[in-house]
Amino acid sequence: MNAHVSLPPHQSPVVAIVGATGAVGIEIIRCLEDRMVPVSELRLLASARSAGQVIPFKGHPHRVQELTEDSFEGCHIVFFSAGASVSRRYAPLAVKAGAVVVDNSSAFRMDPAVPLIVPEANSCDLVPHAGIIANPNCVAAIASVALAPLQRAWSIARLAMVTYQSASGAGAAAMEELRQATAAALADQPFEQRVLPHPYAFNLFSHNAEVDPETGYNGEELKVIAETRRILGLPRLPIGITCVRVPVLRAHSIALSVRFDSYVPAELVRNRLAEAPGIRVVDDREANHFPMPCEASGIGDVLVGRIRQDIGDPTGHTVAMFLSGDQLLKGAALNAVQIAEALLTAPVAA
Ligand code: A2P
Repeated sequence: MNAHVSLPPHQSPVVAIVGATGAVGIEIIRCLEDRMVPVSELRLLASARSAGQVIPFKGHPHRVQELTEDSFEGCHIVFFSAGASVSRRYAPLAVKAGAVVVDNSSAFRMDPAVPLIVPEANSCDLVPHAGIIANPNCVAAIASVALAPLQRAWSIARLAMVTYQSASGAGAAAMEELRQATAAALADQPFEQRVLPHPYAFNLFSHNAEVDPETGYNGEELKVIAETRRILGLPRLPIGITCVRVPVLRAHSIALSVRFDSYVPAELVRNRLAEAPGIRVVDDREANHFPMPCEASGIGDVLVGRIRQDIGDPTGHTVAMFLSGDQLLKGAALNAVQIAEALLTAPVAA
């Protein structure tokens, strides 16, 4: 298997998106358009429910097709964003058909043969691969954009995080539920939630992933721990985390405390982050203006601010900060498209 996407000279890739009608799928289409990724043919795939739906791409209508085992013939790159069970069943078929898969699900993220990539953090791990590249969990992706340049400059000894996660992480149906529940609450009408397990309007709740009865950690928290360690190349990094779902449509925020092996002044952390790719420092103490999901929504950069020495650690080794990143973009679609761009330019491995 070639390390990059094999294309005849001067040919643009044939690209397919599995889950094209979903919250992430729609953003993948937009990212391909906005970033002017060369695409000779775009195949939009979803369930039978959406077959026939028309979605525009580069000014031309594209008809959604039902995903079948034969959907991948002639494809060079296939994005998967239709959940882990669809990826498990169909991604190997796409690889067999000769495509490279960029998978947004959790199906292969901890498979040692599958690189787990955030281009700003570990693009060097992209090769070798065996046809599937995993796109990380949204919190792991957003946090890693900030953590990787810090780890490169100073050694990270421990992380503590609390997340404030948006509806988009649970898909388009959860975003719609948040809109409807909010409208119902404002109209003083009853509302019965169907997608998420708890009332969502004017409320927040512990992340809806299943909780391990022994440790008390939920599935989202365990994914973030395992994947952040893998992306940073620190398999034993101690990470404490609490994941919370908040009534925000599409950007996740993270309160992050980073303990280094040595004393690192917050000012140096701010300077390092200011020059790192994929980050915009928003840290105006005078105006009390820091990262907010409403300003992170719709942009590719992760906003980082409230950068300060953590006074809870008397050694001075810990720096606290607050991040907001668009869950659908850097947390999913944009990262996936950046991986595809890297695949199109990566050198062929020996
Ligand atoms: P559909 O719209 O036809 O249900 P989200 O994460 O926003 O909920 O989106 C999930 C995406 O995955 C949608 O595009 C959805 O298509 C697609 N999908 C879900 N289940 C399947 C399936 N079994 N086969 C193909 N696509 C699927």
